[in-house]
Amino acid sequence: MAKQEDDFKKVISHAKEYGFIFPSSEIYDGLSAVYDYGQNGAELKNNIKQYWWKAMTQLNENIVGIDAAILMHPTTWKASGHVDAFNDPLIDNKDSKKRFRADVLIEDYCAKLEDKALKEIAKAKKRFGEAFDEAQFVSTNPKVLGYREKQKEILQRMAKSLDNNDLADVKALIEELEIADPDTGSKNWTDVRQFNLMFGTKLGASAENATDLYLRPETAQGIFVNFLNVQKTSRHKLPFGIAQIGKAFRNEIVARQFIFRMREFEQMEMQFFVPPGTELQFYEMWKEKRYKWHLALGLGEENYKFHDHEKLAHYANAAADIEFKFPFGFKELEGIHSRTDFDLSAHEKFSGRKIQYFDPERNESYVPYVVETSIGLDRMFLALFSHCLKDEVLEDGSSRTVLSLPPALAPVKAAILPLVKKDGLPEFAERIFNDLKYDFNIIFEEKDSIGKRYRRQDAIGTPFCITVDHDSLKDFTVTLRERDTMKQERVPVENLRQIIDKKVSFRNLLSKI
Ligand code: GAP
Repeated sequence: MAKQEDDFKKVISHAKEYGFIFPSSEIYDGLSAVYDYGQNGAELKNNIKQYWWKAMTQLNENIVGIDAAILMHPTTWKASGHVDAFNDPLIDNKDSKKRFRADVLIEDYCAKLEDKALKEIAKAKKRFGEAFDEAQFVSTNPKVLGYREKQKEILQRMAKSLDNNDLADVKALIEELEIADPDTGSKNWTDVRQFNLMFGTKLGASAENATDLYLRPETAQGIFVNFLNVQKTSRHKLPFGIAQIGKAFRNEIVARQFIFRMREFEQMEMQFFVPPGTELQFYEMWKEKRYKWHLALGLGEENYKFHDHEKLAHYANAAADIEFKFPFGFKELEGIHSRTDFDLSAHEKFSGRKIQYFDPERNESYVPYVVETSIGLDRMFLALFSHCLKDEVLEDGSSRTVLSLPPALAPVKAAILPLVKKDGLPEFAERIFNDLKYDFNIIFEEKDSIGKRYRRQDAIGTPFCITVDHDSLKDFTVTLRERDTMKQERVPVENLRQIIDKKVSFRNLLSKI
């Protein structure tokens, strides 16, 4: 646990030190769970967006992208169910005065039971070695079965109580399990209450005429309310999809994991509209497609897992999360939901407009069904950043910190480094810079020793360093250093564009999907 915490602290401090992420309005001591992206963070974030956007809209001829407003008519949120049901159950500790999500306290208790089960499995694996049959052990060992049965019982009871809005039973469960405030150990709890996560704001100049609005808690509704506009103007037949990247806001009760759970964040969502009855087939297709999108980044298959939802939201008939191994364990990175016709039907009812599609093959009109893929951009950033940040011990015993980002996503593609600040080397380097800047985001650095400059570029994930020395002036070659292997080779200046492009092109990622 201590190692996990240390690793996570390292991620946060590296993000700040190298211009990726800063606490918002830091000079005023920051704003809880709100962050600003710095010069390198903004580039990395834009590249992740591009990877997603291109994968959705360029690789699928039946998906188009839109950019809807953050502020929407307030009835949108009545129709979507967010006004009545976008709540989290919260509980306060009377001694520490800290606020928690009651369901998260219970889930964390279950995660500890699962840890115990995994320890039993690991112990047995060590004891039996090669001969160990994990599947048999897991299905027969009384301790493992006991831990898992208990988890199931607890989670089922919690789900039932939350469904029935029986918050007294959620509190009773916390007390029966003797769950304590994780920081202070106190078990002195208030009652559990529901708390709506939407941020309210007002539209209008005078207080009397102002309309109450919400900052959107998800981008999806901007797509649903535009379904007819896009379908008619794009002339797409079903199945087709609408993709969008944009800000969402949630007044999260507990937001303590850096950019994992923020109050202002970005989502990349795609709604795929399909004929009723075909949704589960497209749901499976999108699960597979999205998994491939992740795997193409090369972070390792072992760091992802699907978590199929047993308890479905009232509007869904299938749902799964793609979980990633963050520094604090496997957690949700993306959700894939088969949302039936819930949203479009609700908007039809609340708006009084017909929101239907005429299907020429079936010769009938109907409300389309929807399969949604929804990934948090900031969570994707954290997944990449935390996984790629490594401390390496080199052959000569020295060490380096390297951010081994997929080259297409790296904030800076190449750094142009004149070996010394004299003898015409900066001018020569500048000419290379001025040629390559039209194709790539590159930087020019002449301060500090070359070794220090290499380390700085490693730390921000720059795939190439290009060093200009005295020989460059004579033979028009430079030293090209590659980030991961640290190999250096002499290459002609005229080949640079092609070499860099081959490595950093989005094609490398997109062609693997
Ligand atoms: N339209 C469906 C929807 O919004 P969700 O599971 O609430 O579903 C989708 O959110 C994704 O958005 C999550 O998988 C997560 O990656 C991201 N997300 C949700 N809440 C977040 C928060 N407070 N901070 C950062 N990312 C968040």
